[in-house]
Amino acid sequence: MPTFDVATTPLATSEAALLVVGVYAPASEERTDPPELAPGAAALAEAAGFDLVAELTGTGFDASPGATLRVPTRGALPSPALLVVGLGTREKVTLDHLRRAGAAAANAAERVPSIATAMQTAIDDADPTDAAQALIEGLHLGSYRFSAYRTDPSPFELASVSLHAEEGDADGLRTTIEVAAITAGAALLARDLVNIPPHDKRPPALADRAVAEVADLPITTRVFDEAALAEGGYGGILGVGQGSSEPPRLVELTYAPEGATRHVALVGKGITFDTGGISLKPSQAMETMKTDMAGAATVLAVIKAAAQLELPVKITALMALAENMPSGTATRVSDVLTMKGGTTVEVINTDAEGRLVLGDALVHASELEPDAIVDVATLTGAAVVALGDKLGVVIASDDELATAITDATVFSGEPHWRLPLAAEQYGERIEGAIADLKNSGGREAGTIFAGLFLHRFVGEGIPWAHLDIAGIAWSNNGGGYLSKGATGSPVRSLVSWLRAS
Ligand code: BES
Ligand code: MN
Ligand code: ZN
Repeated sequence: MPTFDVATTPLATSEAALLVVGVYAPASEERTDPPELAPGAAALAEAAGFDLVAELTGTGFDASPGATLRVPTRGALPSPALLVVGLGTREKVTLDHLRRAGAAAANAAERVPSIATAMQTAIDDADPTDAAQALIEGLHLGSYRFSAYRTDPSPFELASVSLHAEEGDADGLRTTIEVAAITAGAALLARDLVNIPPHDKRPPALADRAVAEVADLPITTRVFDEAALAEGGYGGILGVGQGSSEPPRLVELTYAPEGATRHVALVGKGITFDTGGISLKPSQAMETMKTDMAGAATVLAVIKAAAQLELPVKITALMALAENMPSGTATRVSDVLTMKGGTTVEVINTDAEGRLVLGDALVHASELEPDAIVDVATLTGAAVVALGDKLGVVIASDDELATAITDATVFSGEPHWRLPLAAEQYGERIEGAIADLKNSGGREAGTIFAGLFLHRFVGEGIPWAHLDIAGIAWSNNGGGYLSKGATGSPVRSLVSWLRAS
């Protein structure tokens, strides 16, 4: 991650290798209209007597969000070049446009050691702290490369970013730099863990990594191995994990700051690879199934960020880790598992394994009597069919919680859309024929079915929200501040929710 500092000198005096300036698209459709310089760009052009608008005229640069153009300064400024970044039309610039502008700058500056900018002031009516956070996050997220498995990774050279600001804004900006490094760092941790190939993150190894990630923080850790899971009656986690040559794990992380007024439990699905088990997936459907631990990676990253930010909220994070493999020891189709707490489940489809590991973890979470439970899971292909890879699903038992979380996801550029729990309509579909419940009920409303199933394991009266991130955890195309592969969503949303509440 690049390092950030605050400079209170004019941007025009910077000697950074590249000065990044924002430009708005013309409000009219007339392509001939000149673009409008954002405040930082205008100040720079004026100070240097550099007619940037003239430089842009005739280049075809349309200032659409994320578009970039390099403009040499030819001695007009100490810095050799400007990077002009499009922001779209002035009235419509959002926090997400600023995040994307940051990522575009990071990508364009891949071979450049240092950049300077004042683009955090480019949104007229945003909270300046929010705008700065979005820009800095975009720069961090856009700088991400996963190169751990390349023999010859091409170096990413952007080492430092100077944010130019007024004297009076400098202290606030320094704080925001620290906050954004933590929030973006958490998202990038989740990306890293999801991008790691499955042979290097099998349940015991991933549990060790989780413990190591929080070793220097006021977070206590407890790892339930297969013996402890058997002792505690975690039949869902054990049943899913029993086909693998590596045993499952449940990782419990607790951050309990003094004076906390609230206790939130976060539960993450951690299938380190989902073959489907005996209900084996077709090859193509398996190609991205190393992503199936994204929920567990999310809750780890969120609790780590919360501790780094010293948030006044008690948090328990549970990572339910298992590898879903077919083998002679695997759970069979129509086997019955006894979940933690005693509920029995007939396994109609071993590929509906996430709800089995989550059921145990939700019972565990409920026994801690938290004020809210949020689970995060790459749970259903149906969520991808319904909302694609740019919208996550929220299903909740509590309107207030659903709204607070949805708002945080929109704010963070990781928007989720609420689906109903629909107990009235579909509640009976989860009832089992020979056991209490069945784990699959066909293709229709598959995301809601999974939600209804999970809800049966949430303690009476505990506000609960379920995030189905099957679509948003992974990006086939990348683009904006996402890279191809793991997205790190919805880490920043949950941190934002915890900060706000
Ligand atoms: N891990 C998958 C869901 C998934 C699909 C995540 C696509 C990311 C992208 C989950 O375990 C699964 O296989 N769900 C089944 C459930 C079905 C058998 C009831 C599904 O959605 O097909
Ligand atoms: Mn599955
Ligand atoms: Zn799965």
